[in-house]
Amino acid sequence: MTNVNSNTRVEIVEKLPPISNQIQGKIKAFGHEDNAFAIGNLGDIIRKHIIWQECFPRIESFYAIKCNDVDPVIRILADMGLSFDCASKIEIKKILDLGVDPSRIIYANTFKQPSFLKYAADNGVSLMTFDCEVELEKIEKVYPEAKLVLRISPQSNYKVKFNLERKFGCHPLRASELLQVAMKLKLNVIGVSFHVGSGCLEAGAFEAAIEQSRKVFDIGLAMGFNMHLLDIGGGFPGQKIQNVETNITFEEANDEEVYISTIWGPTCDALDLIIENVKLPELSTGDWIYFKDMGAYSFPCISSFNSMPRVKEFYICERKLW
Ligand SMILES: Cc1ncc(COP(=O)(O)O)c(C=O)c1O
Repeated sequence: MTNVNSNTRVEIVEKLPPISNQIQGKIKAFGHEDNAFAIGNLGDIIRKHIIWQECFPRIESFYAIKCNDVDPVIRILADMGLSFDCASKIEIKKILDLGVDPSRIIYANTFKQPSFLKYAADNGVSLMTFDCEVELEKIEKVYPEAKLVLRISPQSNYKVKFNLERKFGCHPLRASELLQVAMKLKLNVIGVSFHVGSGCLEAGAFEAAIEQSRKVFDIGLAMGFNMHLLDIGGGFPGQKIQNVETNITFEEANDEEVYISTIWGPTCDALDLIIENVKLPELSTGDWIYFKDMGAYSFPCISSFNSMPRVKEFYICERKLW
């Protein structure tokens, strides 16, 4: 065991035991608490970052901490030299508190409360996005030296799970007008950003967005801005494109009769639905359900509704990757 901080310990192992053994071990030790738990393989994150660097050596990764801000994860990423995409004062503070230099943070929320902007200014987090005049006016008042990135909403019909274009980014045809406002306010625009939408399954979406960004770059360059940063946002699907149904694993369900079922979360919230229309065997009190690869956003979306206990977290890592 290694301490990551005073609350979190990581089990360092020579070889990862099969997941079923890991789960059985935790149930044996903590099952009597009948509370959900999660096991995080930190080595998997390390390995994925190494693969990313090999595949995209010219792209600097900014980890969007909104997708999972648990301490061991952000600590490991900070130690590996990643930069961070933060959306609020608290997210920025979490990263600064790890000792990360402010130049390794982009404040990538196009809606910034003035007090959050002031916090960014006081702490030298100068790289930030904007997508409208009002944001430029706020920035001019609070942090005129900031390095600005214009977020556009790329226009295309590629399939994504969650579209972000209604909420974020200006239409590329409005970019010129916004750059003129920035010029008038003597602000420093250095690039363009976009997000093709979360869970994008078609690489063409990036191609289209980069093409549209190129045009905005050229407009900025012609106006005299030193455009040199392209932020390609998130949206990359994981390495395995999974059907959620296959995420539910029953060790001994193979020969059992199954029923079309719905799994509800433990709170009284009518929206607390985990999954619908899955085939499950008959379950009894005391059975455990295992979800493989819960994925991004699972932890930050945990709610304290009904004061339900937070999922217990366990971390493991192979020694050769640690
Ligand atoms: C600016 C920005 N970057 C990155 C992300 C992460 O995106 P994803 O989880 O789709 O990879 C988001 C998510 O909303 C975002 O708004």
